[in-house]
Amino acid sequence: MRPSLLSIIGLALKANVALSLPQGPPGPPGPPDLDHLQPFSTFSNRAIYTPPKGGRAVYPRVAELRDGTLLVTASVSGVAGPGNLPSFPIFESKDGGVNWKWISNLTDQVNGWGMGAQPAIYELRQSLGGFKPGTILASGNSWSNNGTRIDLYASTDKARTWQFVSHVAEGGRPNTTNGATPVWEPFLLAYDDELIVYYSDQRDPKHGQKLAHQRSHDLRTWGPVVNDVAYDEYLARPGMTVVTYIPPLKKWILVYERPVGNSSSHGVNYPVHYRLADDPRKFDSAEPIPIVINTANGTVAPNASPYVVWSPEGGPKGTIVVSDADRSAVYVNTAGADQEKWEIKECGQPEAYSRALHVFEKRPERLMVLGGDTFDGNGVGALIVSVLDIKKLLEGDKPGPTPPSCKAI
Ligand SMILES: *[C@@H]1O[C@H](CO)[C@@H](O)[C@H](O)[C@H]1NC(C)=O
Ligand SMILES: *[C@@H]1O[C@H](CO)[C@@H](O)[C@H](O)[C@H]1NC(C)=O
Ligand SMILES: *[C@@H]1O[C@H](CO)[C@@H](O)[C@H](O)[C@H]1NC(C)=O
Ligand SMILES: *[C@@H]1O[C@H](CO)[C@@H](O)[C@H](O)[C@H]1NC(C)=O
Ligand SMILES: *[C@@H]1O[C@H](CO)[C@@H](O)[C@H](O)[C@H]1NC(C)=O
Repeated sequence: MRPSLLSIIGLALKANVALSLPQGPPGPPGPPDLDHLQPFSTFSNRAIYTPPKGGRAVYPRVAELRDGTLLVTASVSGVAGPGNLPSFPIFESKDGGVNWKWISNLTDQVNGWGMGAQPAIYELRQSLGGFKPGTILASGNSWSNNGTRIDLYASTDKARTWQFVSHVAEGGRPNTTNGATPVWEPFLLAYDDELIVYYSDQRDPKHGQKLAHQRSHDLRTWGPVVNDVAYDEYLARPGMTVVTYIPPLKKWILVYERPVGNSSSHGVNYPVHYRLADDPRKFDSAEPIPIVINTANGTVAPNASPYVVWSPEGGPKGTIVVSDADRSAVYVNTAGADQEKWEIKECGQPEAYSRALHVFEKRPERLMVLGGDTFDGNGVGALIVSVLDIKKLLEGDKPGPTPPSCKAI
């Protein structure tokens, strides 16, 4: 969580008082399919959702359901629903991301604070807490001047309606100053008959911020806070956990940003690091590894709000793909996470704060890149998506043409 983010995300705090907002559906439907794309094709920069003027979508997240349906959500500022509170709009695609429709808003049902930022969305593939496989779980940061809460919601009707399940973690009001006590940025993973909720935690007086998780068997009672990434150096603020599995390595990878005060490393203030572990509950003892890429023109380091996915394409070890906040390019590794073997590849979609990546389960040669606005709010305010062929990405091919619909944003 970056210091100035509160000012740009358009907090519930502000939305309550400052904004007079349009009601109605969450923006116009997707753009007409001018390029007549085939279902499950590749394409660049299609708009899923364009907020009304003054609105911004950031921090998109995606879940693929067992039947291949894609669900996408994002945090939206400058647009509020009932009670003038922010919520997470949910969009659905049945054709691999070519066409999208809005299906629901995930609203705060318990705090009166709204769902301010940092959504997470996930399909359960096992029974857990009385919920059947196919239940959609979602989380996010419900915040106000009175606190931050990472809450868990469930949908048993494919994200049409939502029910509150439990508070996972609670902290002080949003404040990125070290010494304040908020929680941020949940990430969901079911593992070994438990749900793991990873998040960023400023409540431990030993650390400006650390990454931790809590686990539950029943989705209602939560176990102790377990550290994932906590540095002895108080000023370090590791943030923004994303975790995925790398089958050929039989290891889990956790990516995070690692600012330390105002220091910079390879020219960036929020250098992206990763850790590898045999068990996704045991990252704390794993070695931190920075991503640094040597190019003909010197070193390049990704900066801030990383995301990570793995695809079996690209060789025996497949391809790890990482994104950051500062480049349209993505960072790839086909050498089993070897620290020396990262490469940078252009993906053709503008840089954005906390992009999401997705590898289609049934078409693992395809990479989806989802983005919204940049951190500073000078990028694309809409929620946009590209689908790339990973082989072509690795070969360095330029992605397909940009449909005209995206230019007007
Ligand atoms: C969904 O949220 C949008 C704001 O993002 C709001 O305009 C719309 O009224 C909401 N829809 C419903 C059905 O609550
Ligand atoms: C914050 O807490 C105060 C004191 O309990 C209460 O009066 C106020 O309504 C709360 N505001 C919100 C947004 O929860
Ligand atoms: C943010 O936290 C710092 C450290 O605890 C505190 O000094 C400051 O007053 C807080 N700011 C706000 C606006 O709450
Ligand atoms: C970062 O730099 C700003 C401006 O120089 C200063 O006010 C702040 O105390 C510094 N923060 C840290 C953690 O060093
Ligand atoms: C290195 O920088 C030059 C000048 O900006 C540019 O033309 C060239 O494409 C760059 N090479 C690589 C490998 O990035």
